[in-house]
This record gives sequence, structure tokens and C-alpha cells, in this order.
Amino acid sequence: MTTPVTVTVTGAAGQIGYALLFRIASGQLLGPDTPVSLRLLEIPPGVKAAEGTAMELDDCAFGLLAGVDVFDDPTAGFDGTSIALLVGARPRGPGMERSDLLEANGGIFAPQGAAINAGAAEDVRVLVVGNPANTNALIAAAHAPDVPDDRFTAMTRLDHNRALSQLAARTGTAVTDIENVTIWGNHSATQYPDISHASVAGRPALEVVDDPAWVTDSFIPTVAERGAAIIDARGSSSAASAANAAIDHLHDWTHGTPESSWTSAGVVSDGSYGVPEGLISSFPVRSSGGRWQIVPDLEIDDFSRGRIDASVAELVEERDAVRRLGLL
Ligand code: NAD
Ligand code: LMR
Repeated sequence: MTTPVTVTVTGAAGQIGYALLFRIASGQLLGPDTPVSLRLLEIPPGVKAAEGTAMELDDCAFGLLAGVDVFDDPTAGFDGTSIALLVGARPRGPGMERSDLLEANGGIFAPQGAAINAGAAEDVRVLVVGNPANTNALIAAAHAPDVPDDRFTAMTRLDHNRALSQLAARTGTAVTDIENVTIWGNHSATQYPDISHASVAGRPALEVVDDPAWVTDSFIPTVAERGAAIIDARGSSSAASAANAAIDHLHDWTHGTPESSWTSAGVVSDGSYGVPEGLISSFPVRSSGGRWQIVPDLEIDDFSRGRIDASVAELVEERDAVRRLGLL
């Protein structure tokens, strides 16, 4: 049998963890030929529930699941891991902004970055889901000096998928007809869901939509504020759709994306599109050979420029705030 790939999921007893683990164990993350060994990391109060989830994973008798272990110590939890899903963090409640979580959650990611640095596998790839995801990824990366920065990513794939779905509904097409939507900036209400380069069944999306007011007054706020709308409706934040997006992100990172289209992910900026180098910002990205690449040379019109700059300014503020807290 092929050697199993070790996958660590933090916050394993939480709602995203519960929606995620069974899909990973069934092969939806790494494919039908790759066995996985799961490491579930929790804080002590979450360990018992995580053990319950581990029992259920056993009870599924997944052919690809080589083992499940539960930890409350980050160093043990990330030992030998090739894929780290940093989900564990406090979610936003009704009326809270993601920035309210900066201090509460920022402190989780410094020790986890250090633990990844200490013992993860050479090829480790990290996806931060816990909010504020971009800045938490920045904190984790800063505490893992021996791991290349481009192995730390933040999840904006849920925003990307939300944008696909909204555009498909508006244009009466299937999500599979839509290509080259982009989420820029922060995974927050300032994000910029951009359809200026997108196509719908091969035609420019803006031409098919034919209503600039829909883009500015409906599409952008609906996508950017969808997290809050879900919290309002469910009483708790998105879980299954977040788990689904995490699978999409990591599947594309490890398996590649088509050359002809792109997706969105929070990756470390190389200075492209005026985003300060080193920030973890959402960009249009393609994956090949196990690496994300920022799609180069897109034309950015004045409207897009303003929206990208506004979201990036928030990322700069978050970075400065966590610096003041001593987390960077
Ligand atoms: P949840 O409260 O149901 O679960 C969080 C779990 O994390 C809990 O079991 C808790 O014990 C655990 N935890 C807390 N600190 C930990 C630590 N230091 N190490 C390991 N585990 C720890 O929350 P949830 O709904 O699963 O959401 C988790 C996070 O994901 C939240 O921050 C939420 O805002 C975020 N989120 C992000 C996106 C995105 O698109 N990026 C989407 C949805 C939710
Ligand atoms: C989401 O986008 O659904 C999550 O980030 C939860 C939130 O706080 O919005």
C-alpha cells in the first residue's frame, strides 16, 4: 500500500471539523489512490468530542483511512504532517466583525506556526481557515522561519465559490459555465469579488449581466457579506460550505488547476498588483507542480483599483495591529 499522507486538522471537534474530516478520510481531498493518516488537534476541553469524532471515523471503515489520533499538544499534532488545516479558532457571533477576532484568535497561530516549523514534513502545506484567516496565516508563517512562506495560505475559496454561485444564478447558467472570477484582498467584508475578467459560457460576464448597478449594489455586497448572512440565518457560522471550500483549495493546490482558468486563494504577495510584499492577500491564482502562482498581467481598471486598495489597506491595518500585540 502507498505510504499514507499525514493530514492535521485543528479545531477537529468544531463544526467545520465535523464537516471536513469524513470527506478527507473518504478520499475527496487527496484522491481515491492516496491513503491518509489523520491527526486531530484540539484544546483540552475539545479532546473528548474529538475522540468521539475519531470513533465515528473508525466506524465508517474508510478504505483510505490509515489511522486517526487525537492531540491537545500542537507539536505532537503537527509531527510529520504534510497537510495542515488550521481551522481551530473562535468563530464570529451575530453582530461581530472578523476584526473583533484578531486578538482572541491571533494568539493561537503563533505557537501553531512554531510547532509546524519544529516537526512538520518537508513538503508541508498549510491552509488557514480560522478567522481572521489572512492575518492568522501571516502570524503562523512568521513563526515558521524554516518553512517557505508560500506554503502558508488563507482560505478565500468560499468567497470564490459564493461568487460563482451568485453569478450563475443571475445569468441563468451553471457554475461550470463560469470562469475567471477573482476574490481580491482580505477574507472580510472589504474583499473585492471581481467579475471584470470573468466569462459566462465564453462571453464576457459584464456583457452578459449588462447591469453595472447589479455588480456594485447586489453582487459585491452579497458575496462580501455572505458570512454574516449565514450567521444570521443559522445562528452559527458557515460550516459545510467552509469545509467544502477547504477541500477545493487543497485539492487544487495538490492536483493543479487548468491552464485556461483560475481560482482564488490567499497567498503571500510578491508585490503583484500593488499588494505589499509579504502580506497574505487573495489573488487570482493557478496551481501547478504543487505551487500556487499569481495570475500575472491582468488589466486593473480604476474601480477595481480602488476596491483592491481598500481591502489591502485593511490587511495592512491587521498586520500592524498584530505587530502591536507582539504576535509578529
Ligand atoms: P467551532 O467553534 O465550531 O469550532 C472551533 C473548534 O476549534 C472548537 O472545537 C475549539 O475547541 C477548537 N479550538 C480553539 N482553539 C484551538 C486551538 N488553539 N487548537 C486547536 N483547536 C482549537 O468553530 P467553526 O465553526 O468550526 O469555525 C472555526 C473557524 O473557522 C472560525 O474562526 C470561523 O470564523 C472560521 N471560518 C472561516 C471561514 C473562511 O472562509 N475562511 C469560513 C467559515 C468559518
Ligand atoms: C464565512 O465567511 O462564512 C466565515 O468567515 C464566517 C464569518 O465570520 O463570516
